[in-house]
Amino acid sequence: MTNTIDTAQRIRLDVNHMMEGALPSGGVSPREIASLSSRAGAANAQVQKARGTGWLGWTELMYNQDAVLDDIEKTAAEIRAKFSAFVVLGIGGSALGPIAVQQALNHIRYNELPDGRRGGPRFYVEDNIDPERMNALLDVIDIGKTCFNVITKSGATAETMSQYLILTEALKARVGDKWPEHVIATTSAEKGNLIRLAREYGLKTFIIPDSVGGRFSELSPVGLLPAAVCGIDIRAMLSGAADMDSRCRSDDPWQNPALLEAVLQYILMTQKGINVHVVMPYADSLKYMADWFCQLWAESLGKNLTRDGETCHVGQTPTKSLGVTDQHSQLQLYTEGPYDKIVTFLKVEKFRSECAIPHGCAEFPDVAFLGGKTLNQLIEAERAGTEYALVKQSRLNQTVILPEVNACTVGQLIFFFEMATAYMGELLNIDAFNQPGVEESKIASYAVLGNTAEKYAAKRLEMQNRPASKAEYIL
Ligand code: PA5
Repeated sequence: MTNTIDTAQRIRLDVNHMMEGALPSGGVSPREIASLSSRAGAANAQVQKARGTGWLGWTELMYNQDAVLDDIEKTAAEIRAKFSAFVVLGIGGSALGPIAVQQALNHIRYNELPDGRRGGPRFYVEDNIDPERMNALLDVIDIGKTCFNVITKSGATAETMSQYLILTEALKARVGDKWPEHVIATTSAEKGNLIRLAREYGLKTFIIPDSVGGRFSELSPVGLLPAAVCGIDIRAMLSGAADMDSRCRSDDPWQNPALLEAVLQYILMTQKGINVHVVMPYADSLKYMADWFCQLWAESLGKNLTRDGETCHVGQTPTKSLGVTDQHSQLQLYTEGPYDKIVTFLKVEKFRSECAIPHGCAEFPDVAFLGGKTLNQLIEAERAGTEYALVKQSRLNQTVILPEVNACTVGQLIFFFEMATAYMGELLNIDAFNQPGVEESKIASYAVLGNTAEKYAAKRLEMQNRPASKAEYIL
């Protein structure tokens, strides 16, 4: 995979409003960044040394998937020819990337476009087990013309496997023995139940490498197959990621945007009490990129133990805010509430279309002034206004600038945030790739549901003996 991209399409990180002197008070000084230089260098050295190994398999996905890409593109073409709907069954890292990329790179009303104007079948990602939602899906798809992509690395996630059971049953009722032709498994090569089912029924299968964790898997078949099915240029996404990779090799934070991002967030979090990280795209296309980022940052960095086993309880709370919509909801809090937030704007320089505001309402100057401008100008003016309001109140903010939203810039953005997360894990000396806090909830819910497997016996007992809710506290 080539990493040659048009340099005009490079995304940029503008940290002006993070720096001392740019705000009436606060900010990070170049000296504070310099004081972390040896730790930043060590973090980069560690990530570079471990590339492709352990849990860092995602760093190599741009370079080692040639055969996989051919297979994905061939399969995607077959799916487009045969099916009217493509449904991803998955959750967490097996769903948020596909949702984010589809929203970013396809028509915002993709599913509502007539068949000839869509790059592929209608697209759904079922990342919850709300019974009403499942039944609603069955109301709107023609199951006999639907392909289901079951994505679960562990092959054991209850949410995904219950969906598998429901939908394969429904498929059998409609298409009989041909049901396996409607199911594609994306899973681990060896672990879990899905790979066994895939072998037993001859399901078309894509493999998630062991070294690629769920939330780092968007550039593996987890994200690439759904994207390719919907007509997205997956090779351009990978080229964008490779280009960002080439920019994230230096030990010097001023020469490595992801390392600079990690160093700044580390300083804010550990020295300045900035515990909330608001990601605020000013583009509907990037709205679910913020959700994807929130999982990456939260699940990777919210940890209670260092790698040396010491108690730490670290992590910034990531949250999504959509510009301009949330100016009318959250911005008051960001400008005047506690000094505990950093706002990361995602700014788009050139939208894919323009919308002119006609002249009119001459008798109302406050409306008339909008005439002759475009929504493109208005959204950027509002972003700049929000930025100014934050700066004036000494609220830290930074901007990731995307020249356009396209496959190349989205690939860069994904890799930028993944690298920043890995560096942050190094600086915090935590394991950014596990999620023990999620496991506890999983096991407890299986125990509640009566999973009789021996491994849940102790948890069943523990749950049975948990304190009961008191009626007087329920009004
Ligand atoms: O990032 C992660 O590892 C998790 O969010 C997983 O993606 C999520 O729990 C789903 O796991 P699986 O793909 O095994 O079904």
